Amino acid sequence: MGIKITDRLTVVSGDHNLTNYDEKVGSFDWKETETAFSWHASGKVNAAYEAIDRHAESFRKNKAALFFDDGSRKEVYTFNDLKRFSNKAANVLKKHTTLEKGDRLFIFMPRSPELYFSLLGAIKMGVIVGPLFEAFMEGAVYDRLSDSEAKALVTTPDLLKRVPVEKLPHLEKIFVVGEQIEENDKIVDFTNQMKEASSTFDIEWVDREDGMLLHYTSGSTGSPKGVLHVHNAMIQHYQTAQWVLDLQEQDIFWCTADPGWVTGTAYGIFGPWLSGATNLIVGGRFSPENWYSAIERYGVTVWYSAPTAFRMLMGAGSSVLEQFDLSTLRHILSVGEPLNPEVVRWGMDELGHRIHDTWWMTETGGHIICNYPSMEIKPGSMGKPVPGIYASIVDDEGNEVPPYTMGNLAIRRGWPSMMREIWGNPERFNSYFLKEEWYVTGDSAYMDNEGYFWFQGRIDDVIMTAGERVGPFEVESKLLEHPDVIEAGVIGKPDPMRGEIIKAFIALREGVEESDQLAEDIRNFVKKGLAAHSAPREIEFKDKLPKTRSGKIMRRVLKAWELKLPTGDLSTMED
Ligand code: WT7
Repeated sequence: MGIKITDRLTVVSGDHNLTNYDEKVGSFDWKETETAFSWHASGKVNAAYEAIDRHAESFRKNKAALFFDDGSRKEVYTFNDLKRFSNKAANVLKKHTTLEKGDRLFIFMPRSPELYFSLLGAIKMGVIVGPLFEAFMEGAVYDRLSDSEAKALVTTPDLLKRVPVEKLPHLEKIFVVGEQIEENDKIVDFTNQMKEASSTFDIEWVDREDGMLLHYTSGSTGSPKGVLHVHNAMIQHYQTAQWVLDLQEQDIFWCTADPGWVTGTAYGIFGPWLSGATNLIVGGRFSPENWYSAIERYGVTVWYSAPTAFRMLMGAGSSVLEQFDLSTLRHILSVGEPLNPEVVRWGMDELGHRIHDTWWMTETGGHIICNYPSMEIKPGSMGKPVPGIYASIVDDEGNEVPPYTMGNLAIRRGWPSMMREIWGNPERFNSYFLKEEWYVTGDSAYMDNEGYFWFQGRIDDVIMTAGERVGPFEVESKLLEHPDVIEAGVIGKPDPMRGEIIKAFIALREGVEESDQLAEDIRNFVKKGLAAHSAPREIEFKDKLPKTRSGKIMRRVLKAWELKLPTGDLSTMED
């Protein structure tokens, strides 16, 4: 049974919030969206122009585009301000580097206005931007900058300590955001240079298929892979910002994701700004008080967050919630992991709104299966495909299966925001596709008889912990670098708050004694080498790990041990 719509406060004309879903599904063509943009005739485009400058040259010139608040800095920027500051940033980057269209620049810093100026500025140059989450440690930073042969980096004095500059021969310049930076042949004081830079810039008009963003993400094998998105993705960011986020002129939109993850670029930057909405960006640490307070102080109307955060807010209880006035909220959405029906019910009871689940992934670049404001939602379901996208459940041969049959969640190739490359790895890219036709997501799901999709789990061993995607292989490889570890197998263990937590099974080198101290030391080793969110919360020592005859750790068996389930077919296991 679905739930009737009761929480729509504003009704707008047209199909803004997709009231005519069924009709659209049959007839919609993405070409209709293109005509919203100035470039659809010429073909020459720049997504940063469309997101910012276009509005700065319109009636929205002095409209607030960005409210920034990290506790210490509280700043407001209009569309015209963002145009000028991103132009300045582009001039600074251009003056000090040989960066050209298609070259890679990384941004490694916590959310700050400068992050957004430099990201937009680099895109105005036609440069491909790789945003890095601030929690990354040296190994993770090195992997990404070296794999993509990045020429430039924007960072802060603190995070600069985690950049192995001498091991990155392609890195020409590092722009440091802060006060009184000591410059040398590699280091440029970004903040100081911004003061002098011109606020006009000749935008590099690129082809719609030219690269724009490079988001690294994890799979079950191999090191993290660079997922390349192109300027054309804006078509989907814009359209889904209307249909799914339901963004309207007067909205104050808050996406809680960091731009280090794809949600933080597609819907933390492009969706809202392409729509001309006001975007709230909140830095600093999560706390229920800070978050509720942000909604109250900024009058947030549309809020996009993740199940882990909702579960933590739920856990904080109504006594915290009651201290805040959240009456401006109109529409709430979730992404990243399964949204528990219990959380949907909490949203209705406590926030007075249904939380709308959305399903997509780094590789899809934009929304794929969603719950729309005008649609009945079934708590626990991811919703229905975005019009213009054909999603289905297929078997391992690529044949579509009937409703209620579990299988591979697959999408027919060719939506606007689909990744165009895995950086430097065409084989890996091709391995996503089945019969040329289907993009296979790695998730298992089924569809019901009304066309709603229900998530079942990952088919591979990828771990989703607190909404972050962690590849077990990457963690295992880091564990093996620890001098006392001889074998390591890593799984996701179900956890009521975080979805899954990382659990490592470890065999120690001969003669090494297991202890809590050692477990702690190993955990810190991963924290320092990769990132805090990649470190195993639980470590269990074993004499030996289950392996195939070819020596591959059998994570499936580890998982069965953990869940006290039958281990299944062990015919490929050594002895
Ligand atoms: C994986 C992709 C792009 C959004 C952030 C995650 C899981 C994502 C849902 C959802 C159940 C979900 C899937 C997917 N996932 N959204 N609504 N319900 N699972 O992007 O890091 O590329 O991870 O996240 O397993 O494959 P990502």
